[in-house]
Amino acid sequence: MNFDIVHIVYLFASITFILGLKMLSNPKTARNGNLLAAVGMVTAIIAVMVFHDGEVSSLIYGLIFGAIAIGTVIGWFTAKRVQMTKMPELVSLFNGMGGACAALIGLVEFHHNIGDPMSIAVILAGMVIGSVSFSGSIIAWAKLNGTIKNAIRLPKYNILNTLILISLFVYAAWIVYSGTPSETHLYLLFSVSIAYGILFVLPIGGADMPVVISLLNSFTGLAAAFGGFLYGNQVMLTGGILVGSAGTLLTLVMCKAMNRPLLSVIFGAFGGGQVSAAESGPRGNVREVGPSDLAVQLNYSNKVLIVPGYGLAVAQAQHVIKELEQILEQRGVEVAYAIHPVAGRMPGHMNVLLAESNVDYDKLKEMEDVNPEFAQTDVVLVVGANDVVNPAAKTDPASPIYGMPILEVENAKSVIVNKRSMKPGYAGIENELFFRDKTQMLFGDAKKVLTELVTELKALE
Ligand code: TAP
Repeated sequence: MNFDIVHIVYLFASITFILGLKMLSNPKTARNGNLLAAVGMVTAIIAVMVFHDGEVSSLIYGLIFGAIAIGTVIGWFTAKRVQMTKMPELVSLFNGMGGACAALIGLVEFHHNIGDPMSIAVILAGMVIGSVSFSGSIIAWAKLNGTIKNAIRLPKYNILNTLILISLFVYAAWIVYSGTPSETHLYLLFSVSIAYGILFVLPIGGADMPVVISLLNSFTGLAAAFGGFLYGNQVMLTGGILVGSAGTLLTLVMCKAMNRPLLSVIFGAFGGGQVSAAESGPRGNVREVGPSDLAVQLNYSNKVLIVPGYGLAVAQAQHVIKELEQILEQRGVEVAYAIHPVAGRMPGHMNVLLAESNVDYDKLKEMEDVNPEFAQTDVVLVVGANDVVNPAAKTDPASPIYGMPILEVENAKSVIVNKRSMKPGYAGIENELFFRDKTQMLFGDAKKVLTELVTELKALE
């Protein structure tokens, strides 16, 4: 009877995960999707506590509930307090914790399964992948929050990493087939896996971290799925497979957006390192524009495209930009937003930000759709974006972002760039766009200057 109840709850929870994931693909339903999947997860945890087989001592119950309580409090407060721009760091840290759990399952279950090669293989697979995901995610977290500032590369790091990866596979296979698995081998394999996770992420350049985080996320899902397979726990298996496949798909989508082959993510570091022509210093003068002149220019335009970037999120200028859009539309100007897939600091960052100010979802145009439209655009207003509009990605083979598809704003009749200074963006490189003849710089904090711009536009009535 208990068995049936648990399995019905597992089925229910698995369905909530699938529906929740589907709902996450649209900003309008994402919050409810997250909630639905969380309800499924809590139900599954309660079911396994109440209807499990075998005796569990009150000490173990105390430890389990104590751990859940501590984790819930820490998770709740951290997630409540985190700023939107710090989300990737938090995701990285949480993902690392998932990897650590999968690795711990391996360490705990190993000696219970000696003599059963199939279970040992599953345990080692989960432990190796979980450990790599744990240490890699911690390094990614340290890179994103600036504790580790640069890509650190050992001599011949590519070859070294590939050799360590191959040795991990061979060593794990040997432990399984040697017939005498010992805990010394287990801990050695664990240590090498941790070391590989560190060495795998350390050399990777800053601009490519989103791909790595997504890849590590898929590793954690895979490691959890091995745990589900080991315990015959369908909900853990389904959850792990969903996280693993969603993470893999996101990795592929981001690789495509940044024009990076997936194999170069896995077997070699990319991004950063070379000195590009664009890094060699400012080129020429920049033209400045103030809010009042820009207001006139916008007022007499037919079509305006807004390119939001990380600076829009920093300034929290999403509400004022919506106000700007409304005023321009009232004046008969066609307004839309051009969204680069890696603008900001996390996938969908700009979509989420603009959804906060109720920007119509139909006004958000994806890069492939909007690029041909720039040539018919009177004014492109770039707000706090830099790397995603940097022409060096197309023209400078030595640039760390070379090959990444960009928003081709330079094709518009006029380009206005709002930022606070001439400092580079995330990839740390100069942007030649700022020195082009048709570009004008609107310096200042996005929220402040856009508010001034809106005031000037209202005065033009
Ligand atoms: P960035 O290239 O980082 O440029 C943002 C610009 O915003 C900066 O140049 C900064 O210039 C300006 N800025 C900062 N605060 C501002 C404020 N308060 N008001 C106005 N401007 C402000 O951003 P992007 O174009 O969105 O490109 C994203 C980059 O992040 C890419 O390199 C991408 O690979 C990387 N990345 C993306 C993700 C994902 S998944 N989206 C995750 C991690 C990293 P000033 O300092 O001069 O103001």
